[in-house]
Amino acid sequence: MSNPVTSPVVTGVSTSGLKDSAIMIFGASGDLTARKLIPALFMLQKKEFLPPNVPIIGVARREKTDDSFRAEMKIALSKNIKGGITEAEWETFSKRLFYVASNLEEGADFGPLRDSVEKIERQQGVGVTRVIYMATDPKLFLSAVDALGKADMIPSAESPRKLRIVFEKPFGRDLNSSRLLSQSLSKQLREDQIYRIDHYLGKETVQNILLFRCGNSIFEPLLNRNHVDHVQITVAESQGIEAGRGGYYDKSGALRDVLQNHVLQLLCLIAMEPPARFEADAIRDEKLKVLKAFSTGGRPISEWAIPGQYVASEINGKPAPGYLQEERIAPDSNRETYVAMKVLIDNWRWAGVPFYLRTGKRFPERVSEIAIQFKHPPMHLFSTVECEGDMCQFVSAQSNSLVFRIQPNEAILLSVSTKRPGMQYQIHPVTMNFQFEDAFGGELPEAYERLLLDVLRGDSTLFTRSDELEEAWKFVTPVLEYWESQTIRPEPYAAGSWGPDKADQLLGSTGRSWRKPTSAEMHKKH
Ligand code: BG6
Repeated sequence: MSNPVTSPVVTGVSTSGLKDSAIMIFGASGDLTARKLIPALFMLQKKEFLPPNVPIIGVARREKTDDSFRAEMKIALSKNIKGGITEAEWETFSKRLFYVASNLEEGADFGPLRDSVEKIERQQGVGVTRVIYMATDPKLFLSAVDALGKADMIPSAESPRKLRIVFEKPFGRDLNSSRLLSQSLSKQLREDQIYRIDHYLGKETVQNILLFRCGNSIFEPLLNRNHVDHVQITVAESQGIEAGRGGYYDKSGALRDVLQNHVLQLLCLIAMEPPARFEADAIRDEKLKVLKAFSTGGRPISEWAIPGQYVASEINGKPAPGYLQEERIAPDSNRETYVAMKVLIDNWRWAGVPFYLRTGKRFPERVSEIAIQFKHPPMHLFSTVECEGDMCQFVSAQSNSLVFRIQPNEAILLSVSTKRPGMQYQIHPVTMNFQFEDAFGGELPEAYERLLLDVLRGDSTLFTRSDELEEAWKFVTPVLEYWESQTIRPEPYAAGSWGPDKADQLLGSTGRSWRKPTSAEMHKKH
């Protein structure tokens, strides 16, 4: 047996450099801070990744005291931490919370903010690394970065001080605006100071895709055009438009909101070549090659990209409103709440294998998964006829599938054909179901925990590089422009259904069909 080539990945989590850090959250009065960021930082403390002296400084325009900010965050934690928090945990956590009011808009003077932050840093005994999380309206990204520059808060490459800024999406609305934003930011910041977050990359099962592919030798040789019939990537949500999000969503839609980022990142992870080393740039280089190899076979957009919009229906006997009846949605909106696409990857490995992508709101189930559908066995050696009463059907070997279930009930499922016990050769499909919870128990860490820890450690592997972002926008922008300029009406689908019928046409007349995992299937253990 030959020895494998090694590219060591450090498995322990070193937190030694963290005790010199300060975290600032711009947009600290917003929903993201309360729902995701503060709970994630609390969990990092609970798991002993966040040294007790590291301050978390909330920054927003509204005047608030440290105490009132702490009181708000205590409520946020009680709502968002399963099982609640103890007084002792809160005691430690509240001591690291501070609040500084500051304007973040055009022309803002960060002098007073800098002085307040330095004072807090001295008091906490930190001062090497600053992490700033931009949880603000994206229109404040540039003005805030400008103000940081003017206040001398952006250290040079030679300085021992470090600054890392995390940008929440949306990072632009299309290719042009994203390019402009990147160019403007690059006048002030270096790429190593910019962390574009895609929270899907922080999900445990998403991180597992690469490890599963490159840590096992039996599957990787199968992942190519010789064995794979097609791949389906689904990010389905059962919820509609959440309260307060109508204004944003109606300007955005499923393509910008989820497909351009989360779905394309999943596609890259499953289709990329194994990197030579497990390092940020080596991985991102491989993802970039996949994005550059996207092809639509030269067909018109309407033949490979289908927009949909949910209409009023009944779910479990209760009326469910349509998109146009949701709060803050234009009554004649053409915005898509669903998108399905057929994408090809023009490279040696994947030539001719269709990747079917879909995402949207108001599906019957909340499910995110990557399903690799293998080719049929070359001949039906074991086809049998199965009868139940008068009903008989022809059963032959099903094609195998390998599914990465990202959520809920994170799992890896491999479907195979077996012999049903008995006196005949009766074929029966079964699923080998590996559930993360069974193997490792307990709750999996939230995506934001991992990603925030990575920013603090300066590891950008799970963040999107500017060239990846640009390629993703290059791919989706013509579709957006076509839908928007032609005022294409999205295909209607009933709230609580699997999307418009027209999306079936993408799969062609080849016997392929969209997967429809049922609730029972997803929650079934074995
Ligand atoms: C966000 C989108 O990026 O992802 C939301 O803006 C969507 O519209 C969410 O609901 C889905 O994320 P998750 O982790 O709940 O699958």
